[in-house]
Amino acid sequence: MKKLVTPYFVFLIMAFSIIFSGCYNSKADLIIPHNDCDTTGIISYRSDVTSILQQNCYICHSADKYATNGGFHQLDKFSVLQQMIANGKLLKAINHLPGAVPMPYGGSKLSDCDIMKITAWVNRGAPDN
Ligand code: HEC
Repeated sequence: MKKLVTPYFVFLIMAFSIIFSGCYNSKADLIIPHNDCDTTGIISYRSDVTSILQQNCYICHSADKYATNGGFHQLDKFSVLQQMIANGKLLKAINHLPGAVPMPYGGSKLSDCDIMKITAWVNRGAPDN
């Protein structure tokens, strides 16, 4: 009995993996765009960057919270944010790189697109635009 079942089972697994890998490759290319994060246009501090920080960071880093929850960093203040950019902590923190405490604190990483937007804005000199 075992001798008959094993080859049949192996054949089924091979057949399924060929069918599914075929489906996955062809459909993924059609449905999922390779990169839907557009960072080529203007990235504005006052709308784009603050809306990301608003949603993910100000709960701990805004004026009324930073002293208790935000490690004394008031990131809704432009000058403080600039300091965190100048010392490299902001990008290290959101990319979970060594040299900074990973942010959001105790939470999961920002989306790739949010990280790309903040990075692009920083690389363009982090203007107050
Ligand atoms: C749940 C609260 C909380 C949230 C949400 C949060 N932070 Fe923080 N953040 C902290 C605390 C607490 C510290 C101080 C950590 C320490 O020094 O151990 C800190 C420190 C930092 C630092 C300095 C890191 C260092 O190594 O000195 C940066 C930069 C920072 N946060 C950026 C962010 C950004 C950007 C976000 C949103 C993407 C964010 N934080 C979200 C609580 C938070």
